[in-house]
Amino acid sequence: MRDNVAIDGPAGAGKSTVARQVAEKLGYLYIDTGAMYRALTWKALSQGLNLADEEGLSALAASTSLEFKPLASGVTAVFCDGRDVTMEIRSPEVSQKVSRVAAIPGVRRELVKHQRKMAAGGGVVMDGRDIGTYVLPEAPHKFFLTASLEERARRRWRELVNQGQGVTMEQVREEIAERDRRDSQRSVAPLRPAPDAVVIDTTNLSPEEVTTHILCIIRQTS
Ligand code: DC
Repeated sequence: MRDNVAIDGPAGAGKSTVARQVAEKLGYLYIDTGAMYRALTWKALSQGLNLADEEGLSALAASTSLEFKPLASGVTAVFCDGRDVTMEIRSPEVSQKVSRVAAIPGVRRELVKHQRKMAAGGGVVMDGRDIGTYVLPEAPHKFFLTASLEERARRRWRELVNQGQGVTMEQVREEIAERDRRDSQRSVAPLRPAPDAVVIDTTNLSPEEVTTHILCIIRQTS
Protein backbone atom coordinates (compact mmCIF):
# COMPACT_ATOMS: atom_id res chain seq x y z
CA MET A 1 0.00 0.00 0.00
CA ARG A 2 1.23 3.51 -0.75
CA ASP A 3 2.12 5.57 2.32
CA ASN A 4 0.18 8.66 3.34
CA VAL A 5 1.87 12.05 3.80
CA ALA A 6 0.74 14.53 6.47
CA ILE A 7 1.53 18.25 6.08
CA ASP A 8 0.49 20.59 8.91
CA GLY A 9 1.19 24.18 9.89
CA PRO A 10 -0.36 27.60 10.41
CA ALA A 11 -2.14 29.73 7.78
CA GLY A 12 0.19 31.03 5.07
CA ALA A 13 3.07 28.64 5.76
CA GLY A 14 2.80 27.37 2.18
CA LYS A 15 1.11 24.05 2.95
CA SER A 16 -1.39 23.92 0.12
CA THR A 17 1.02 24.83 -2.70
CA VAL A 18 3.63 22.41 -1.40
CA ALA A 19 1.14 19.61 -0.64
CA ARG A 20 -0.31 19.93 -4.14
CA GLN A 21 3.17 19.74 -5.71
CA VAL A 22 4.22 16.77 -3.55
CA ALA A 23 1.00 14.92 -4.47
CA GLU A 24 1.54 15.62 -8.15
CA LYS A 25 5.15 14.36 -8.09
CA LEU A 26 4.18 11.19 -6.23
CA GLY A 27 0.98 10.64 -8.24
CA TYR A 28 -1.00 10.81 -4.98
CA LEU A 29 -4.34 12.46 -4.21
CA TYR A 30 -4.16 15.89 -2.55
CA ILE A 31 -6.69 16.54 0.22
CA ASP A 32 -7.02 20.07 1.64
CA THR A 33 -8.80 19.54 4.97
CA GLY A 34 -9.01 23.31 5.61
CA ALA A 35 -11.29 23.46 2.55
CA MET A 36 -13.66 21.04 4.30
CA TYR A 37 -13.96 23.28 7.39
CA ARG A 38 -14.36 26.26 5.06
CA ALA A 39 -17.10 24.58 2.99
CA LEU A 40 -19.05 23.74 6.12
CA THR A 41 -18.65 27.33 7.37
CA TRP A 42 -19.86 28.62 4.01
CA LYS A 43 -22.94 26.37 4.21
CA ALA A 44 -23.71 27.45 7.79
CA LEU A 45 -23.43 31.13 6.85
CA SER A 46 -25.55 30.76 3.74
CA GLN A 47 -28.27 29.08 5.82
CA GLY A 48 -28.05 31.85 8.41
CA LEU A 49 -27.14 29.41 11.20
CA ASN A 50 -25.88 30.68 14.54
CA LEU A 51 -22.17 29.80 14.73
CA ALA A 52 -22.46 29.43 18.52
CA ASP A 53 -24.94 26.56 18.05
CA GLU A 54 -22.52 23.65 18.48
CA GLU A 55 -25.18 20.96 18.24
CA GLY A 56 -26.72 22.46 15.11
CA LEU A 57 -23.34 22.76 13.41
CA SER A 58 -22.32 19.21 14.38
CA ALA A 59 -25.59 17.93 12.88
CA LEU A 60 -24.90 20.01 9.78
CA ALA A 61 -21.43 18.42 9.47
CA ALA A 62 -22.98 14.94 9.73
CA SER A 63 -25.50 15.64 6.96
CA THR A 64 -23.24 17.48 4.50
CA SER A 65 -21.55 15.85 1.53
CA LEU A 66 -18.04 17.18 0.83
CA GLU A 67 -16.07 16.07 -2.20
CA PHE A 68 -12.88 16.97 -4.05
CA LYS A 69 -12.46 16.76 -7.82
CA PRO A 70 -9.05 17.39 -9.40
CA LEU A 71 -9.44 19.52 -12.56
CA ALA A 72 -7.22 19.44 -15.66
CA SER A 73 -6.00 22.97 -14.73
CA GLY A 74 -4.28 21.56 -11.63
CA VAL A 75 -6.85 23.14 -9.29
CA THR A 76 -8.81 20.83 -7.02
CA ALA A 77 -12.47 21.82 -6.99
CA VAL A 78 -14.43 21.53 -3.72
CA PHE A 79 -18.06 20.43 -3.82
CA CYS A 80 -20.52 20.92 -0.99
CA ASP A 81 -23.72 18.88 -1.45
CA GLY A 82 -22.89 18.69 -5.15
CA ARG A 83 -22.36 22.44 -5.61
CA ASP A 84 -18.94 23.79 -6.64
CA VAL A 85 -17.91 26.16 -3.80
CA THR A 86 -14.19 26.44 -4.66
CA MET A 87 -14.33 30.24 -4.92
CA GLU A 88 -16.92 30.96 -2.21
CA ILE A 89 -14.93 29.24 0.55
CA ARG A 90 -12.04 31.74 0.14
CA SER A 91 -14.22 34.80 0.90
CA PRO A 92 -13.10 37.13 3.73
CA GLU A 93 -16.25 36.25 5.71
CA VAL A 94 -15.53 32.51 5.62
CA SER A 95 -11.84 33.16 6.42
CA GLN A 96 -12.80 35.18 9.48
CA LYS A 97 -15.34 32.70 10.84
CA VAL A 98 -13.93 29.28 9.94
CA SER A 99 -11.74 28.84 13.03
CA ARG A 100 -14.84 29.15 15.23
CA VAL A 101 -16.55 26.34 13.36
CA ALA A 102 -13.34 24.27 13.34
CA ALA A 103 -13.13 24.50 17.14
CA ILE A 104 -16.43 22.63 17.65
CA PRO A 105 -15.71 19.02 18.78
CA GLY A 106 -18.77 17.52 17.02
CA VAL A 107 -17.81 19.19 13.74
CA ARG A 108 -14.25 17.87 13.99
CA ARG A 109 -15.49 14.37 14.82
CA GLU A 110 -17.56 14.24 11.62
CA LEU A 111 -14.96 15.75 9.31
CA VAL A 112 -12.11 13.65 10.73
CA LYS A 113 -14.20 10.51 10.14
CA HIS A 114 -14.53 11.54 6.50
CA GLN A 115 -10.79 12.41 6.22
CA ARG A 116 -9.71 9.03 7.60
CA LYS A 117 -12.01 7.26 5.14
CA MET A 118 -10.47 9.16 2.23
CA ALA A 119 -6.96 8.19 3.40
CA ALA A 120 -7.80 4.55 4.19
CA GLY A 121 -6.44 3.25 0.89
CA GLY A 122 -3.13 5.16 1.18
CA GLY A 123 -1.60 7.35 -1.52
CA VAL A 124 -2.87 10.60 -0.04
CA VAL A 125 -1.12 13.89 0.75
CA MET A 126 -3.29 15.59 3.35
CA ASP A 127 -2.76 19.11 4.64
CA GLY A 128 -4.29 20.74 7.71
CA ARG A 129 -3.55 21.47 11.36
CA ASP A 130 -3.95 18.10 13.09
CA ILE A 131 -3.19 15.55 10.39
CA GLY A 132 0.06 14.27 11.92
CA THR A 133 -1.12 14.50 15.51
CA TYR A 134 -4.68 13.26 15.26
CA VAL A 135 -6.18 12.40 11.86
CA LEU A 136 -3.38 10.13 10.57
CA PRO A 137 -1.03 9.55 13.52
CA GLU A 138 0.28 6.40 11.79
CA ALA A 139 1.34 8.25 8.63
CA PRO A 140 5.04 7.46 8.08
CA HIS A 141 5.79 10.87 6.54
CA LYS A 142 4.90 13.96 8.59
CA PHE A 143 5.91 17.55 7.97
CA PHE A 144 5.16 20.76 9.84
CA LEU A 145 5.68 23.96 7.85
CA THR A 146 6.17 27.29 9.60
CA ALA A 147 7.15 30.84 8.56
CA SER A 148 7.29 34.21 10.30
CA LEU A 149 3.93 35.95 10.81
CA GLU A 150 5.13 38.82 8.61
CA GLU A 151 6.00 36.52 5.71
CA ARG A 152 2.79 34.50 6.03
CA ALA A 153 0.71 37.69 6.03
CA ARG A 154 2.60 38.96 2.97
CA ARG A 155 1.89 35.72 1.06
CA ARG A 156 -1.80 35.67 1.95
CA TRP A 157 -2.16 39.38 1.13
CA ARG A 158 -0.59 38.89 -2.32
CA GLU A 159 -2.94 35.96 -2.97
CA LEU A 160 -6.02 37.99 -2.00
CA VAL A 161 -4.96 41.05 -4.01
CA ASN A 162 -4.40 38.81 -7.06
CA GLN A 163 -7.98 37.59 -6.61
CA GLY A 164 -9.13 41.21 -6.71
CA GLN A 165 -9.95 41.53 -3.00
CA GLY A 166 -9.29 44.96 -1.49
CA VAL A 167 -7.54 44.23 1.81
CA THR A 168 -4.58 45.85 3.56
CA MET A 169 -1.50 44.01 4.86
CA GLU A 170 -2.48 45.11 8.36
CA GLN A 171 -5.94 43.48 8.07
CA VAL A 172 -4.46 40.24 6.75
CA ARG A 173 -1.79 40.16 9.49
CA GLU A 174 -4.41 40.65 12.20
CA GLU A 175 -6.73 38.02 10.74
CA ILE A 176 -3.90 35.45 10.52
CA ALA A 177 -2.67 36.21 14.05
CA GLU A 178 -6.20 35.79 15.39
CA ARG A 179 -6.66 32.52 13.49
CA ASP A 180 -3.28 31.22 14.78
CA ARG A 181 -4.37 32.03 18.30
CA ARG A 182 -7.72 30.23 17.99
CA ASP A 183 -6.27 27.22 16.14
CA SER A 184 -3.44 26.79 18.68
CA GLN A 185 -5.46 27.33 21.84
CA ARG A 186 -8.57 25.28 21.16
CA SER A 187 -9.07 22.27 23.39
CA VAL A 188 -9.61 19.67 20.64
CA ALA A 189 -6.68 18.81 18.33
CA PRO A 190 -4.87 22.16 18.61
CA LEU A 191 -2.28 23.23 16.04
CA ARG A 192 1.12 21.78 17.00
CA PRO A 193 3.77 19.59 15.35
CA ALA A 194 3.59 15.83 15.90
CA PRO A 195 6.62 14.63 17.90
CA ASP A 196 7.85 12.72 14.83
CA ALA A 197 7.20 15.51 12.29
CA VAL A 198 10.01 17.17 10.33
CA VAL A 199 9.66 20.92 10.98
CA ILE A 200 10.55 23.17 8.03
CA ASP A 201 10.78 26.97 8.30
CA THR A 202 9.71 28.21 4.86
CA THR A 203 10.27 31.95 5.50
CA ASN A 204 13.20 32.13 3.08
CA LEU A 205 12.35 29.19 0.83
CA SER A 206 10.34 28.98 -2.39
CA PRO A 207 7.53 26.39 -2.59
CA GLU A 208 9.66 24.42 -5.09
CA GLU A 209 12.57 24.29 -2.61
CA VAL A 210 10.27 23.03 0.14
CA THR A 211 8.73 20.42 -2.19
CA THR A 212 12.17 19.16 -3.25
CA HIS A 213 13.26 18.92 0.39
CA ILE A 214 10.11 16.98 1.36
CA LEU A 215 10.40 14.58 -1.60
CA CYS A 216 14.03 13.97 -0.72
CA ILE A 217 13.11 13.06 2.89
CA ILE A 218 10.23 10.83 1.73
CA ARG A 219 12.56 8.95 -0.63
CA GLN A 220 15.20 8.53 2.08
CA THR A 221 12.70 7.15 4.57
CA SER A 222 10.56 4.95 2.28
O1 DC B 1 -5.83 25.89 5.90
P1 DC B 1 -7.00 26.89 5.94
O2 DC B 1 -6.58 28.27 6.26
O3 DC B 1 -7.83 26.82 4.71
O4 DC B 1 -7.90 26.36 7.17
C1 DC B 1 -9.12 26.97 7.50
C2 DC B 1 -9.40 26.82 8.98
O5 DC B 1 -9.71 25.47 9.31
C3 DC B 1 -8.29 27.26 9.92
O6 DC B 1 -8.79 28.21 10.84
C4 DC B 1 -7.89 26.03 10.68
C5 DC B 1 -8.99 25.05 10.44
N1 DC B 1 -8.47 23.71 10.21
C6 DC B 1 -8.44 22.84 11.26
O7 DC B 1 -8.82 23.21 12.37
N2 DC B 1 -8.02 21.55 11.08
C7 DC B 1 -7.60 21.15 9.89
N3 DC B 1 -7.19 19.88 9.73
C8 DC B 1 -7.58 22.05 8.80
C9 DC B 1 -8.02 23.34 9.00
